[in-house]
Amino acid sequence: MTKSLLSVLNGDRQPTPPIWMMRQAGRYLPEYRAVRAEAGSFLNLCFNPAKAAEVTLQPIKRFGFDGAILFSDILVVPHALGQHVTFEAGEGPRLDPIADREGLKRLGDDLDPAIVEPVYETVRQVKAGLPADVTLLGFCGAPWTVATYMIAGRGGEDQAAARLFAYRDSQGFGQLIDRLVEASVTYLLGQIRAGVDAVQIFDTWAGVLPAPEFRRWCVEPVARIIAGVKQAAPSVPVIVFPKGAGFRLKMTVDHAGADAVGLDWTADADFVRREIQPKVAVQGNIDPLALLAGGDALDRAIDQALSDYAGGRYVFNLGHGILPPTPIGHVERMIERVRGWRP
Ligand code: CP3
Repeated sequence: MTKSLLSVLNGDRQPTPPIWMMRQAGRYLPEYRAVRAEAGSFLNLCFNPAKAAEVTLQPIKRFGFDGAILFSDILVVPHALGQHVTFEAGEGPRLDPIADREGLKRLGDDLDPAIVEPVYETVRQVKAGLPADVTLLGFCGAPWTVATYMIAGRGGEDQAAARLFAYRDSQGFGQLIDRLVEASVTYLLGQIRAGVDAVQIFDTWAGVLPAPEFRRWCVEPVARIIAGVKQAAPSVPVIVFPKGAGFRLKMTVDHAGADAVGLDWTADADFVRREIQPKVAVQGNIDPLALLAGGDALDRAIDQALSDYAGGRYVFNLGHGILPPTPIGHVERMIERVRGWRP
């Protein structure tokens, strides 16, 4: 049986674009909230293979998506390097901030196997329960985005702490990025060995940097991760999602070695069709707020994305993660419209 998502990532066009959603296992689903409540904390859920596999499969069972994404979090990597991570209900992640080069000494050299092994076990369990035509995606955060949380100790709007660290001590910042490149290669290869078909690198905060810093801290580290993954696993496609990159997406496509790129909802369709889609598959880019709103706004957004991108190699998705208050009926309508689409 063919996996249509995997075939697009490998360079084919599918007449009906495969569909999945970032954050598809999450709080908008009652069955997710139930398992999440049983698990206690969010991280307990991430590190409990049976429960994490169950929530990974929930959106596949309910909606029949073409892709399943491993249920975990990008902050598992700093956690496994020895930086304590917690998630406060309603407030997001909290880490013990790394203020300067001295703070880097607190990090271990290697990923703690006791922390990453349960994630690989989740992959094995998902694989065992997944329909044969569904593509299983692994993931990690891009070094820049992960570093912003490690340095600030929390999420934020402008990533000021990491930008300032990188300007004040670019060598020290480079050491942190190097550590994350190495850890990310190990982590992705662990997921690949456990059975994922493809991987996505999330660079959620790529859009806040000036061009030279975007090249140095976003594109180059991601290129090194992809080179490391491809060396050991040349046939596994890699998706890069540099959110907010705009026209700099071309830099990612020309220099990172990705097989596909994620688009956020602000992407310029003419630019993407001219400069990006001839080189790699594209994925995206419904505004999560249009999905939340539903109705005509959602129908228009879906039709626009299909007419913009479905003529080429295209994976239908959102431009960022689904929002917790999104009605399930809107997701069902979106899937029906995409699957019923004829050019
Ligand atoms: O996409 C999926 O369904 C797979 C699982 C996944 C999660 N996080 C689960 C999650 C993936 C791929 C991520 C990636 C992630 N995590 C990113 C990059 C993509 C993005 O969304 O920008 C980032 C920046 C993080 C860090 C993170 N994790 C934050 C800032 C938060 C808190 C914000 C929030 O939505 O509460 C999380 C928590 C988180 N990760 C939740 C889920 C389902 C919600 C926590 C809960 O259920 O209590």
